Amino acid sequence: MNILMIGDIVGREGRDALTFWLPAYKEAQKIDLCVANAENSAGGKGITANIVRELRDAGVDVITLGNHAWEQRSWLDEADRFPEVIRPWNGAPSWPGQGYYVHKYNCSKVLIVNLLGYIFMQGADNPFFFMERYFQDLLDRIKPQITIIDFHAEATAEKCAMAWYLADKVTAVCGTHTHVQTADERIIGAGTAFISDLGMTGSMDGVIGMDREHSLRRFCTYLPTPYKLHSGNVHIQGAIINVDHRCGQARSIKRLDIKLEDIRS
Ligand SMILES: [Fe+2]
Ligand SMILES: [Fe+2]
Repeated sequence: MNILMIGDIVGREGRDALTFWLPAYKEAQKIDLCVANAENSAGGKGITANIVRELRDAGVDVITLGNHAWEQRSWLDEADRFPEVIRPWNGAPSWPGQGYYVHKYNCSKVLIVNLLGYIFMQGADNPFFFMERYFQDLLDRIKPQITIIDFHAEATAEKCAMAWYLADKVTAVCGTHTHVQTADERIIGAGTAFISDLGMTGSMDGVIGMDREHSLRRFCTYLPTPYKLHSGNVHIQGAIINVDHRCGQARSIKRLDIKLEDIRS
């Protein structure tokens, strides 16, 4: 089984690149499941029902979110209607929606869980304490063959620690949130795929997808600056994980970094 993980989709340019590229790629590479982080898909902040439909039509099967999950207020009312769009499981109990989703693949169950880190993050329980308390119960209840974790966190050490905490218990731990792809993808333990950060699907010439000038103004002046996305030099980033679906172990993980310009020409 081939699972494609996509890093944070940023704004319209990120969405357009992904929806242009994904259908043919999915078919050519025999991708059985595509999981994409879309916490920045609506103008860089949050997600909407229309965007979910757009991504689903292009072949995204499951969407994960993060600390920007609720920045489009409409999503607070829409979240419960889209079980395949998951928000951090360890978020506040008052949050709408679910923190995990079960995708059926042939006779196997694929459990996808979204978790939020606690270093430089707000709004979530310590993910280690939370997993210690609830994860085994979830596994006992769902009995998945394959389990994928999107760990949306800032600190590399926290992501690496979570990967080792879950090694041999899950199929993959993929980091999101920093928008910078890391070159540390590997199999840990007997068959858990890990990468600290999948990267970003958006403009590489800005500051993690945001407009350069606006971002610099904020850093250089501390003055309020309007939120704006950068444009151009769009990349699609993520990873492909090959999984033995009978035992749920990952066999390989390979990084993806596709420049839109190269596939358009
Ligand atoms: Fe993000
Ligand atoms: Fe984030």
